Amino acid sequence: MKRMLVPLMTLLPCFCLAQFDDAKWIGSEQTVLYADYLPQFKICWTVQLDKASRSDRMALLFGGNDPRLMDRNMNILGVENGVDESYIKLELDAASSHLNIWRIGYTVEGRELLKSFELGAFDAYECHTIEAQCCLGSADILFDGQKLGDVVLNPMGRGGDYIAFPQLSQIGYAMEAGKLAIIHNVEVRNYRSPYGFLYADKNMQKIGDKKKEVLRLTDPSRGAMPELQCKFALKQKPVKEATLTATARGIYQATLNGKQVGSEYYAPGISQYNKTHFYQQYDVTTMLQSDNRLRVRLGEGWWAGALTFGGGNWNYFGDQLAFIARLVVRYEDGDSTVVTTQPETWEVSNYSKVTYASMFQGEVFDNTVEANVWRKACEAKLEGHLPTEGGGTTPQVCDYSNFRLLPASTSVGLHTVLKAQQVNEVRPGVFVYDMGQNMAGVPRITMRGLRKGQTVTFRFAEVLYPNLPEYADKKGMLMLENIRAAMAQDIYIAGGDACEVFAPDMTLHGFRYIEITGIDEPLPTVDVEGLVVSSVDRFTAEFECSNPKVNRLWQNIQWSMLSNFISMPTDCPQRNERMGWSGDISVFSRTAVNMADVDEFLNQHMQAIRDVQTEDGRFPDIAPIGGGFGGMLWGSAGITVPWECWLQYGDLDILAHHYEAMARYIDYIDSHYFEASTGLLVQLRQWGDLGDWLGLEDGKNDKTLLFEAYYIYDLDIMRQTALLLNKEADAERYQRRLDERKQFFIEHYIDPKTGRTVFSAFDPKRQGQPIDIQGSYVLPLAFNIVEGELREIVLERLVACIERENTTDGGVNCPPYSLMTGFITTAWISRVLSDGGRSDVAYRLLQQEDYPSWLYPVTQGATTIWERLNSYTHTAGFGGNNSMNSFNHYSFGAVGQWLINRCLGIERDEEQPGFSHFILRPEVDPTGQMTFARGHLDTRHGRIESSWQTNADGTVNYTFNIPEGTSATLLLPRKTPMELKAGKYSY
Ligand code: BGC
Repeated sequence: MKRMLVPLMTLLPCFCLAQFDDAKWIGSEQTVLYADYLPQFKICWTVQLDKASRSDRMALLFGGNDPRLMDRNMNILGVENGVDESYIKLELDAASSHLNIWRIGYTVEGRELLKSFELGAFDAYECHTIEAQCCLGSADILFDGQKLGDVVLNPMGRGGDYIAFPQLSQIGYAMEAGKLAIIHNVEVRNYRSPYGFLYADKNMQKIGDKKKEVLRLTDPSRGAMPELQCKFALKQKPVKEATLTATARGIYQATLNGKQVGSEYYAPGISQYNKTHFYQQYDVTTMLQSDNRLRVRLGEGWWAGALTFGGGNWNYFGDQLAFIARLVVRYEDGDSTVVTTQPETWEVSNYSKVTYASMFQGEVFDNTVEANVWRKACEAKLEGHLPTEGGGTTPQVCDYSNFRLLPASTSVGLHTVLKAQQVNEVRPGVFVYDMGQNMAGVPRITMRGLRKGQTVTFRFAEVLYPNLPEYADKKGMLMLENIRAAMAQDIYIAGGDACEVFAPDMTLHGFRYIEITGIDEPLPTVDVEGLVVSSVDRFTAEFECSNPKVNRLWQNIQWSMLSNFISMPTDCPQRNERMGWSGDISVFSRTAVNMADVDEFLNQHMQAIRDVQTEDGRFPDIAPIGGGFGGMLWGSAGITVPWECWLQYGDLDILAHHYEAMARYIDYIDSHYFEASTGLLVQLRQWGDLGDWLGLEDGKNDKTLLFEAYYIYDLDIMRQTALLLNKEADAERYQRRLDERKQFFIEHYIDPKTGRTVFSAFDPKRQGQPIDIQGSYVLPLAFNIVEGELREIVLERLVACIERENTTDGGVNCPPYSLMTGFITTAWISRVLSDGGRSDVAYRLLQQEDYPSWLYPVTQGATTIWERLNSYTHTAGFGGNNSMNSFNHYSFGAVGQWLINRCLGIERDEEQPGFSHFILRPEVDPTGQMTFARGHLDTRHGRIESSWQTNADGTVNYTFNIPEGTSATLLLPRKTPMELKAGKYSY
């Protein structure tokens, strides 16, 4: 069974770390600035108009010459600017005492006056500061430190849901002829605390020309991603073993004597770094020689740079990347050589091939850089580099009071390599490669005969603009609106070698299509590869049946799991989100534990959930990181996920380790979420208390019914967990509460005569009226809230809802057997039908192809599970959802568990978790549409196989394989249960 995650020590920021001996965190004092990829910044100028010339006007510029606005193929705004034709302009007009905000060249309008702020009286010939605090296209404008107001600079829209304009890009000034001024100081800092400097020019500049206009834009970019190195020699005697222990603030890739150490991506992985920080250990014995060079590249990873949909989360954990390591070489004779990271013995370079490396924005690789420029490394202390934001449900990441350094138990590795299937030249010089499969990872591109300095640009998208009238001018081009503010663009500057391979490893893209520009001829498709990376190394379950669309659905679930199990379980891998949303993993967890061995992975995630649990016990909507919205249907992941690990893997440690946090969460619900006047579990009556998210009839549901049902499920898990952990008093308490709430549920949400669900007093206007939609029946059945006869009539109501036509909240009519449920109840609907003997309905629902259904996306060409059942349709395109529309979201794929557990019938026995004994209960498709199903599940006892096949005469053949070390109860229709030992069986 699993080892316990034991906290090793509690440390304060400037500690020494036991695992690292006297090693120090080291890094560079210089921060990289790549201005074309920087959508958050504060830019401030100190200026003074020239008195002698009676100058009364000057303008300061940023967001200049953004390459995306200089090439009509790189934007959907319809612009193609020449040099110095696009920028944001802050115009100080002393004559009228105004500060005017202009947007030039960003749209087809050309010049747009966005806002004009009145300044009141001021002496223009004195020094003044003008500042723009810009975050994903919205800016606060300040004059002499006073906020004048805000302005939306981004023509795409306000906030993080859009392709972000402007980036900092080039900065400068514009002067009319005859106007003169002085700039005393230009500063660019980060938007988030500690507001570190990215650029500072303290030189006094006289600007303007007596006779002609002057417009100057310059690129403030500087530096590159830090690299570190250390040279060391070994003693001349035989080496027994050598171990490198390492971790980073950011992500790292180490090489020893030119060879890569380990094979993982994005080490040390994400965590709530101020609480739990993982480290790796590598056996490097065979990599050593007498003189050695250990070299390390750092990327922003999840520590710094872009993270989540909020631009204010840039540099979420800190603004300085750092590395710490200890290499211990043991000789045969017992002697040893120890190398640790020390500023004195290590060198750092900010001039290297990797100009920039960001998970969201992409990687910029300059192969013209021949040799790094090295200087002494600096000690990287946290002081002065930590943000102070946070509070409420978003933890303060500067709080290191409970810091632990733990060995990583999961990693991200290369899973598969895909080769492009085809290439299209969509516009002259725009080559779009189709990988044939939506995926998450990085490209590997082989290029021949590039000129030195030739710049090749790669963009990544999940979908293309379809051939529909509204997209006539974009047809076949990458659809990047749903990637939103993540730049998702790599740039390669060729070194001019005969053959060059670009394989970035410090970024992550979610894509099916790669657009390549900057090459003269298309590359052969074999040279365009997609490296699929994942924390899932192999699948433990496979499934195949006679319905090819269901098979594709199964593969789509696998692909979405691969793409979203990357160091943490994310909602999606592509847009500026990629967060550990709790609701998503809660509903998908049962499928996930079947699909792969993710016990360690989910253990690690539970650590993250504990790390961001609030002091009063609330489980987060997002972990690590915290914040977000969702409420208890999301937070319940802290209870349901460890429970799944226990049942599937027999992992009692996860429950033992997590129990206290689970109990605190229940206490939190008890003390915060109940309404005294009605007794209902209402949560906070706020929008963020989400219900059946993205369910087509969610608006017709009573959210509190879902809350109460999940609370009951949580209590049931708590009761059973308490018993397992020998906490009888707790178990009794949870049992009492469970009985009470079940009773309450039945009294308030079910009409006992008809079995219909009814509205509670949550919405007094609807109280007592029937709810009667699919999503209202699923949970009371799934969580055994309704029992006996009541259960039967409730199930009938559910079946009636499925068998009838339904109308979405938006008024769309849906045929019978439509899937009207959202993230939460979709996960359970098939199971409750099968449990109630209605697998016929489950199969019809599964194999329905009209919208809305699981197979509808398959008919539309889906290769992964979509965020919406209609993310794309051949007729309506993206249906207006161009922004919140991920094509790689596993939540609706939660039907995967039913395919294994019921269609194949390989089901764990809850009385004997971990498959020490299990249930075989294949459900043959009673509708006859599916004629066979076969597959397997790998458990700790080995592979369990199951198949069934229907014959023309109505008989069914079954085969099973039960591995050694376990046994099963076989439940077949109209047969008495049979106990089977290890062996192969056919019936
Ligand atoms: C995410 C979801 C998540 C939800 C919470 C979305 O933006 O992609 O999957 O659960 O927000 O509201």
